[in-house]
Amino acid sequence: MEKPSFELLNPATGTKSELPVRSGSIGPDCLDISALSKDQGVFTFDPAFSVTASCESKITFIDGDAGVLLYRGYPVEQLAARSSFMEVAYLLIYGELPSNTQLTAYRTSITRHTMINESLLRFTNGFHHNAHPMAMVSAVVASMAAFYYDSMDIHNPRHREIFSHRIVAKLPTIAAAAHKHALGQPFVYPRNDLAYCANLLNMFFAVPCEPYQVDPVAAQALDLLFMLHADHEQNASTSTVRLAGSTGANPYAAISAGVSALWGPAHGGANEAVLDMLEQIGTADQIPKYLDMAKDKSSHFKLMGFGHRVYKNFDPRAKIIREACHRVLAKLGRTDNPLFELALRLEEIALKDEYFVSRKLYPNVDFYSGVIYSALGIPRSMYTVMFAIARTVGWVAHWMEMISDPAMRIGRPRQLYTGPTQRDYLDVAKRS
Ligand code: SDX
Repeated sequence: MEKPSFELLNPATGTKSELPVRSGSIGPDCLDISALSKDQGVFTFDPAFSVTASCESKITFIDGDAGVLLYRGYPVEQLAARSSFMEVAYLLIYGELPSNTQLTAYRTSITRHTMINESLLRFTNGFHHNAHPMAMVSAVVASMAAFYYDSMDIHNPRHREIFSHRIVAKLPTIAAAAHKHALGQPFVYPRNDLAYCANLLNMFFAVPCEPYQVDPVAAQALDLLFMLHADHEQNASTSTVRLAGSTGANPYAAISAGVSALWGPAHGGANEAVLDMLEQIGTADQIPKYLDMAKDKSSHFKLMGFGHRVYKNFDPRAKIIREACHRVLAKLGRTDNPLFELALRLEEIALKDEYFVSRKLYPNVDFYSGVIYSALGIPRSMYTVMFAIARTVGWVAHWMEMISDPAMRIGRPRQLYTGPTQRDYLDVAKRS
């Protein structure tokens, strides 16, 4: 059913505009303002894109009030309980759940693309030993364009597919290379007999001088976290990938831009910051002091892992990860985990506090994930890299969706200019 348009009256000129209403399959309608500038000579003003849909997408849906997250229509809870990261990757990128044959072929292709060029390893080893891995990963990903130049025609669907397999396959290898470089240990080559997350753990923790057995509990926990982090519609890093990609830049450049955007503590960098914060708080009796700091606008301190632009209810991923923390810590024999206990207590106290209740600030995906990463032995500086590995799937899905749309145009926001009006240049001798 066609919805009635909104009518806009310009009081200065008396000109009327019809703003068509566009409906998605679910979710709020959107006012189509694309003709507004031509009709009325005005722009819209929406800093931080609070109410602006930047694109049409069929990939992921969030209902922030109800705490719902769907990947291609499938609830994240069902996928987390019954699927795998490789299957979710296929679903997000190709649009449908794979058949058995398709999944096997996809897994095989990803496995066969896990090696990286030895020159990329030398590049990684050129960083200072204490370089942050996010800086290394974004640089190495950008440099992949120099290695795979032969298959980077963004208008060639086969090239796009090869890129998508390469980037998903190689990200864990790049992350592991950064990790081993920081430790000063030899790089461990990928193993094609291991599944995606087991191979990642092996590359991280194996050493050449003794056998290493991947703990299946650890691999399964990582697989779950990766499924939950795989996509989240038009978040800051995904929007960055789309904007960079809309220029026609090569896809490695676009993904590298996404990695850089993800690093910020307001976004994916929060998982590392949560553990820093919990350590800073130290003991439960200190919680009120830190909550007061979080409420004080002049303190710059925020409760990391809390709040979300879209969720005004529990982030469904945080609920699943909190549950998983109990399970994984028990299975790994790490039930005595003071930081997890502190996180639970902090959540309990914050959710009763009027400031957090009235602003609908709940734990987000980053609040509990670090507890699991730390139990798996992954160093704190690597937490956001883990997020980036999982989110690469979402970035790829969005980049592919955008590039394959014949109506794609370069992204170019407008502005409300508040600087000086035109003035004449003064020679330096005449300036006061
Ligand atoms: C991710 O967008 C995505 O989908 C991201 C993500 C994904 O999967 O891609 O879900 C991943 O980035 C999760 C978010 C990780 N970041 C953090 O945990 C950092 C801490 N949280 C925030 O800084 C903040 O909540 C954001 C960045 C997540 C959201 O910022 P918004 O949308 O600008 O916040 P808001 O406008 O909704 O805030 C409303 C009010 C404000 O106070 P008032 O001006 O109304 O008095 O709540 C306050 C904010 O100051 N507030 C907080 C707070 N978060 C919001 N106060 C204290 N501590 C906090 N964490």
